[in-house]
Amino acid sequence: MANDVAGKVVVITGASSGLGEATARHLSTLGASVVLGARRIDRLQSLADELVGRGGKALALATDVTNCDQVKRLADAAVETYGRLDVMLNNAGLMPQSLLERLKIDEWNRMIDVNIKGVLYGIAAALPHMTRQKAGHIINVSSVAGHKVRPGGTVYSATKHAVRVISEGLRQEVKPYNIRTTVISPGAVDTELPDTITDPDVSAAMRKFYDDVAIPADSFARAVAYAMSQPDDVDINEILFRPTRQEF
Ligand SMILES: NC(=O)c1ccc[n+]([C@@H]2O[C@H](COP(=O)([O-])OP(=O)(O)OC[C@H]3O[C@@H](n4cnc5c(N)ncnc54)[C@H](OP(=O)(O)O)[C@@H]3O)[C@@H](O)[C@H]2O)c1
Repeated sequence: MANDVAGKVVVITGASSGLGEATARHLSTLGASVVLGARRIDRLQSLADELVGRGGKALALATDVTNCDQVKRLADAAVETYGRLDVMLNNAGLMPQSLLERLKIDEWNRMIDVNIKGVLYGIAAALPHMTRQKAGHIINVSSVAGHKVRPGGTVYSATKHAVRVISEGLRQEVKPYNIRTTVISPGAVDTELPDTITDPDVSAAMRKFYDDVAIPADSFARAVAYAMSQPDDVDINEILFRPTRQEF
């Protein structure tokens, strides 16, 4: 396998906006083939068309990461279309933060389903291909909230702590298969993520925080490319980055 990004086949969940979309653009520019999954197929398809129009290789597939079969179909499509699966980027997520006393139990469940189970389904979809290839790279997206907890962020932080634990367990288990694992924990990055907050108090505070400190999404895309482009015997296990302006 090449050590660089060019020629690698990369599946990206949550590629219809934000970090996933920026990463698809960046990796495609660097010569990767990208397989894009999310629910909003119109946005995915126009991104894939744009990348193909610029000479890249891209495929869009409507995917709900809470559906294990759909995530498997996404990873299988990468192998059927491009012959292998080099990188699985489990990026889809949402952040409807609120105080626990607001009892937004449906939102707790959605965060658990997308942010935790969605990552596990991505791992399940990628592992059969990567263990057979005896090569591959699974990149999971946690957060600064996967290292810290603050009022209003309890369930979101719990899901992002879970992603780090899952990533570390995965790292140890896949040693026999020459598979690399990376968990990336971004700070505030300018995406649609704060729009998932329905609690008006938390939403206003978060909007101000993002307006004050957030940095562009290509910061994350470059971190993905950095982890991917190391030589095969180097496994970048964790990346945590914040905007320079961000304190917590
Ligand atoms: N932006 C930040 O400051 C920040 C910081 C730390 C961590 N993160 C993490 O970064 C990841 C990406 O978020 P973002 O900031 O790029 O936010 P975003 O712009 O809201 O993007 C979220 C992506 O997840 C997808 N998604 C949500 N539910 C899904 C489902 N059930 N099935 C498939 N895809 C689903 C969305 O696509 P559809 O709606 O089309 O399905 C969208 O493409 C998340 O895991 C988030 O927790 C972000």
